[in-house]
Amino acid sequence: MSSHDTVHVDLGDRSYDVLIGEGLLAAAGRHIKPFLKLDRTIIVTDRNIAPLYLEALQHSLEQAGVASEAVILPPGDSTKDFANLQDLLNTLLSYGIERSTTLIALGGGMVGDITGFAAAILLRGIDYIQIPTSLLAQVDSSVGGKTAINAPHGKNLIGAFHQPRLVLADTGALDTLPQRELLAGYAEVVKYGLIDDPEFFYWLEGHGAALCDGNPAARRHAVMTSCQAKADIVAGDERESGRRALLNFGHTFGHALEAESGFSDILLHGEGVAIGMAMAFDISVLMGLCSAEDAARVHRHFGSIGLETGLQPIQGMTWSPRVLLAHMGKDKKVKDGQLTFVLTRGIGQAFLNSDVREEDILTILKEAATG
Ligand code: GLY
Repeated sequence: MSSHDTVHVDLGDRSYDVLIGEGLLAAAGRHIKPFLKLDRTIIVTDRNIAPLYLEALQHSLEQAGVASEAVILPPGDSTKDFANLQDLLNTLLSYGIERSTTLIALGGGMVGDITGFAAAILLRGIDYIQIPTSLLAQVDSSVGGKTAINAPHGKNLIGAFHQPRLVLADTGALDTLPQRELLAGYAEVVKYGLIDDPEFFYWLEGHGAALCDGNPAARRHAVMTSCQAKADIVAGDERESGRRALLNFGHTFGHALEAESGFSDILLHGEGVAIGMAMAFDISVLMGLCSAEDAARVHRHFGSIGLETGLQPIQGMTWSPRVLLAHMGKDKKVKDGQLTFVLTRGIGQAFLNSDVREEDILTILKEAATG
């Protein structure tokens, strides 16, 4: 039997639970069955995850009397494009889906985002369930209903808000996650502390290393705290008209870095977010909003865990501050031609600001590029 914690995302008739704990994958059929309108489902996963968890999931579904088919995508964020979306939609249609079909996204952020978007637009919207297997997906992308693919113009520019019916976050799946991906997901965990929960950041300073070394209690606490924080924000601002934008802390810088590196594995999303959050602290110091001590403390924590906060160590790239600035201009967060940044007054004190001067952005980008 799996034991789990539950976080409720309170969105009226679109409310759902996030179950968090070890062993949820093996018990998935029992948890999922009540949400299905048919006794068959389609699992979307990728080539990295399929050999690890697909059989266990299908077996568990079968035990619950649910037949399943699987679509296996190429791995990596570059799969989140038009061509792969088109292939996925055509494959799902060829399986004879109907309005009452439920998709299951089994994998990391890429699988969840593209499957959620396919569910949002197929037959004008069908149900889907998230089974996130990466830390990043467990603490961020599987919760909150943001679904998307990338465009040549930028990250996640084509998508829809479409909430899942259930999220099963099996923290045991983190055992098989490559260390680099675990660290990238850890950046999104730290984000919740930096936004508005300094106590959580201090806890991570003490327990982050154990979490990254696989301590089950530490990772369950971190996933739980992160999901609860996200659920609270999403319940208050589902479509990001205000407070939800704080979840983009570090993302304006980070997305520009990702776009410049072609959404490739030169820079994982969470790695870009870690650098972006460090830059957000640095620009806040430059603007006289935040103490240099707090910024140094954040750089120190990322460094101690093994996450870079500068651009120099990234292999195979030369960074132009002006090109990065141009990428930022295409971000979703541009309003009336003005970029909205998430800045900070210190650890746990993030806020939105649309008055950042271009020269300050360029200064910070130059500093990060030259170390
Ligand atoms: N990842 C940011 C959000 O879900 O709003």
